[in-house]
Amino acid sequence: MIATETSTDPRYGLFQELIDTVKNDRPQYPFETIELDVRQYTDESWFQYEKEQIFDDVPIVVGFSSMLKNSGDHFTFDHLDKPLLIVRAKDGQVKCFLNVCRHRGVRLSNADKISQTKTFSCQYHHWTYDLNGSLIFVPAEEGFPGFDKSCRSLKEVPIKEAHGLIWVNPNLDSRIDIQDFLGNIAVDLEEFGLNEGYFFKQSKHVCKANWKLHIEAFQDGYHVTRLHKKTVGGFFKDNLAVQEREKQHIRSIVARNEIEEAIDLPSDKWNFRNHGSFSHLIWPNTTTIMHPDYTSQVTFYPTKVDETVIIHNCIITRKPESEKELAHFERSFKLIDQGVFASEDFHICAQAQIGMKSGANDTFLVGGYEKGLKTFHDILGEKLGPYRQL
Ligand code: FES
Ligand SMILES: [Fe+2]
Repeated sequence: MIATETSTDPRYGLFQELIDTVKNDRPQYPFETIELDVRQYTDESWFQYEKEQIFDDVPIVVGFSSMLKNSGDHFTFDHLDKPLLIVRAKDGQVKCFLNVCRHRGVRLSNADKISQTKTFSCQYHHWTYDLNGSLIFVPAEEGFPGFDKSCRSLKEVPIKEAHGLIWVNPNLDSRIDIQDFLGNIAVDLEEFGLNEGYFFKQSKHVCKANWKLHIEAFQDGYHVTRLHKKTVGGFFKDNLAVQEREKQHIRSIVARNEIEEAIDLPSDKWNFRNHGSFSHLIWPNTTTIMHPDYTSQVTFYPTKVDETVIIHNCIITRKPESEKELAHFERSFKLIDQGVFASEDFHICAQAQIGMKSGANDTFLVGGYEKGLKTFHDILGEKLGPYRQL
């Protein structure tokens, strides 16, 4: 825990705003409508520009710390335009390497799930590397006279583990300063206990929609009781949500029905998982959602102007101790992952993408209950300037 007093924990201020919003039954800010040019979701050149300006040199979440519990635990990762291998080394540190053998460039590991190893041995000629990426064995080494193995270690990629998450910067020359990057979003992640989580499950989705549509779906309190009417919509108050910007990130809360109980409670009795649902947009493409008894990390990796790979990782507080407990978490994950995300949010984003191509709308309207979208586009505008044809 890095903040024990309400004055240093940024969640309290926004939660008070949520309570005021509920008490007065009025939105957090005065209403306004903005318009967004739909071409920024369909223009190939703009997509490439976004990738270069936003994604090529930034820490990007690749998963939870608890995915790699022991030394030798590792997984491959191919959604940042480079083949990556992420591993917990012997000293407990996480490392990221280009997943490329230094002999003839073959893909070194094919671990598409979390796997365990002591060394990485290339299938082609069996050059072998330790968990720090050092080349430790070359069969028939005498065939390479004068060869210094220490010059052919795996290429390292900047990686940082902090507050229960793992970040990678695909720019090999970068340095990750996660505290400076996160600001006090770090306090939220710490206080929500992401560090202590037990990694439960991962799912992968490929959705035919621009990455921004997905980010927006998670910034929009207006659809919750409507699109999600048959799944989780009934758990939430309609249009009672608040959000605030922290550096280039966004902290949001949607009021759950239980918010009524919190109104008369002193702040030290507020329950930040049950009275409301916190979520964070961690710039540029990760959303964390603090459900009542588990946490989702959903990251949207842009692959094409109209295609996004989505990885959803879920942690719970501890390993399920009984069949009943396991079944409970399996059900919850399925409801959120398949029912809410895939069948509702991602499906609707793909529908919007089709609609944009049709030419029906030149612009999108964003209203007062979708304030998070405006904040997201303010931040995009600071990085890219307004949409223009390149
Ligand atoms: S390419 Fe890996 S050992 Fe030859
Ligand atoms: Fe949604």
